Amino acid sequence: MPDSSKSAVVTSALPYANGEIHLGHIASTYLPADIFTRFSRLSGIKAYHICATDDFGTPILIMAEKDKKSPEEYVALWNRRDHEDFSSLGISFDFFYKTSSKENVEFVQYVFKKLRENGHIYDQNVIQFYCTFDDKFLPDRYVIGKCPYCGAENQYSDLCEKCGRVPDQILEPKCAICGRPPVKKESRHHFFRLSSFGQRLKEWLSTNQNLQPEVRNYVINWINEGLQDWDITRDLSWGVPIPETKGKVFYGWFDNHLCYISSLVKFVSDNGGNGKKVWNESDVYHFIGKDIVYHHYLFLPAMRLGIDSEYKLPDCIPTRGHLMLQNQKISKSRNWYIGLRDFTSAFNPDYLRFYIASVVTYSQDDLNFDFDAFYARINNELIANVGNFVNRALSFTQKSFGGRVPEPAGIDDSLGKELAAAVDEAGALLSCNEIDKALKRILKYSSYMNQYFQASAPWANNDTANTTLYVSLNAVRSLAILLEPYVPFSCEKIWSQLKLGGSVHEQTWESAKEISAVAPGHELDRVEPIFRKIEAKEIEQWKNKLGKP
Ligand code: MF3
Ligand code: ZN
Repeated sequence: MPDSSKSAVVTSALPYANGEIHLGHIASTYLPADIFTRFSRLSGIKAYHICATDDFGTPILIMAEKDKKSPEEYVALWNRRDHEDFSSLGISFDFFYKTSSKENVEFVQYVFKKLRENGHIYDQNVIQFYCTFDDKFLPDRYVIGKCPYCGAENQYSDLCEKCGRVPDQILEPKCAICGRPPVKKESRHHFFRLSSFGQRLKEWLSTNQNLQPEVRNYVINWINEGLQDWDITRDLSWGVPIPETKGKVFYGWFDNHLCYISSLVKFVSDNGGNGKKVWNESDVYHFIGKDIVYHHYLFLPAMRLGIDSEYKLPDCIPTRGHLMLQNQKISKSRNWYIGLRDFTSAFNPDYLRFYIASVVTYSQDDLNFDFDAFYARINNELIANVGNFVNRALSFTQKSFGGRVPEPAGIDDSLGKELAAAVDEAGALLSCNEIDKALKRILKYSSYMNQYFQASAPWANNDTANTTLYVSLNAVRSLAILLEPYVPFSCEKIWSQLKLGGSVHEQTWESAKEISAVAPGHELDRVEPIFRKIEAKEIEQWKNKLGKP
């Protein structure tokens, strides 16, 4: 799917600036986006991985108040923390910005004006929930009730987590702060005519072949059931100010996705380029979790259509399911939860990347983080397969050849063919976002090389040892390139032990096919094991912590 003559804009859904990044975020969105971006870069595509914190909205305001901070201070803190957390896991954004940036605020206001000129905005008085006890209008998450579509209790008034729809009129409403039933009060609001985009959205959804069919089908069903216009006004102070309207701001979902565009544009123009041109000439990917399908498949494209596609619609919206933890729903309040920080300070971040990548399907199915499976995957696959082969090849060369690559004598054709097949097949799978399948294909090659090494038994065959090691060292180099999107920290270590110069991140996917890049006579750097085995007791400790206060 990625077109190497084009650049790629890859966005990851913007995390709300009000809480720690956890394993669930990583699995559905950030890791798949990062692996895809890294693969695109290796494929010679100029890729821009863009993200930002989602700074506005009612929950953030409430939490800042609780923390006795101004909302600006509060979101700045989370912006810094989130960015650090992502970096610690090797999530490599080109630019990490914020929805409250001056650039985004201006862009959002511009888009609003253009939508209004194009007739997609109308005004209407709304009767809004108002809590007389808290003396506040109660938008969105401030009201909890029963979903009118599926009947699920305890849902926020702006999104039913059970059925994924946005309720028009929540039933049995209660104030989320104090639990009292709210009263109704009138306020004048702007509405976005989402309802008038049904036909055009359907056309776009059915002609865009890159969208996952299962998602497309249920989104088309939603359209068939009828779309509701969106109230884009909030009676709050924290948000993008609505032009010519005092005391009101835009709804967070009106401004947040526009930050994909405003951030890319800023990044490109800060580097001397034309952001709009880059956006429109790139393949545009929005990586998301399935809970925000409605917003990305309907609201976001409708808004872009509404400004005459001045910025193109997404080419692809890779959408994945939620992460379960030990087969249960992740929940911070029940402490059924693992923060990214805790995890990466205990384990090599590549272990998390490897494990999640091996279970993350390209579908809406929920995935599961299971500690025993994590233990087994790391020890039995990453370490016993990849680590073992890499370490044997490198340390044997160190011990028996003084760290110099030996001269081969006649290499079996099948070795190069096996490698080329692995590179092509894994590449094709990664191109269409089949991250787990591509990883399996690479591991199959690694285990093939392990068997080759074992069967060649260089320790017992003086005459063929040279060739075995030469072939194996070149295969180690290939594996470092192929696994770079998955375990970048470890691949960089392998690269530096091979002492090939430069960085593994700058190599090309195609060059992984080379079987003679590590030349005879070349001297390796000091060889050390790349991985450390996980101990069973570490796993037990983590399991025991879950669910305890
Ligand atoms: N902050 C939102 C969430 O966590 C995602 C925003 S993605 C964007 O659900 F498209 F709106 F920016
Ligand atoms: Zn109240």
